[in-house]
Amino acid sequence: MSHSRATTSPINQVFLDRWSPRSFLEKEISDEVLFSLFETSRQIPSTFNPQPWEFILARTQEDREKFYSFIVEGNLAWCQKAPVLALIISEMNNEKDFNKSHSSDTGEAWVYLLLEATKKGLITYPMTGFDFESARRSLNIPEKYTIHALVAIGYQSKKEEFPEINQQRENSIPRHETKELSFKGGFGQHIK
Ligand SMILES: Cc1cc2nc3c(=O)[nH]c(=O)nc-3n(C[C@H](O)[C@H](O)[C@H](O)COP(=O)(O)O)c2cc1C
Repeated sequence: MSHSRATTSPINQVFLDRWSPRSFLEKEISDEVLFSLFETSRQIPSTFNPQPWEFILARTQEDREKFYSFIVEGNLAWCQKAPVLALIISEMNNEKDFNKSHSSDTGEAWVYLLLEATKKGLITYPMTGFDFESARRSLNIPEKYTIHALVAIGYQSKKEEFPEINQQRENSIPRHETKELSFKGGFGQHIK
């Protein structure tokens, strides 16, 4: 299944190949493949190296159902076919203080995983459409951890096997222009 996203400069193909399809196939992911994705998250830099991110995985039907209890209906409609759901959390404090970088470090950690998944022929779909507090309670997540997002991981099925409403959404969405994303010298001065 294809999607289209133009670039203004040549970039590594994996960034273009990665997108978020909802059409998951009911097919398990082997330990070897799955843990190789998390290996990439081990490789990322973090400010003073606390590596604050953690992933809570649901891979059995029992664990997935626990996750379904806090996912919003719109997402549940498609993510129930995904063999793996991973909740991304991070510890907010380092040894002494609040760690200002825990969120950005964690963002890097799960994006590496998404890209490696793409390289290995898997699909991923990040979500924040779930009840964070209910997730915290169901999974016993301590208050010192922030919940960031949930990612569904699996293999892609055929778009045609998908409900009509979701078929229409099976396309990557357009992006801002590169120049709109960068400032020169100070806030508000866009690069021309
Ligand atoms: C952190 C995060 C949370 C998202 N949460 C949801 C969600 O709950 N439900 C949903 O349908 N899409 C969700 N999306 C998908 C985006 O709205 C958007 O469709 C997606 O990023 C499209 O880009 P892509 O196909 O290039 O990945 C989320 C994306 C991100 C990055």
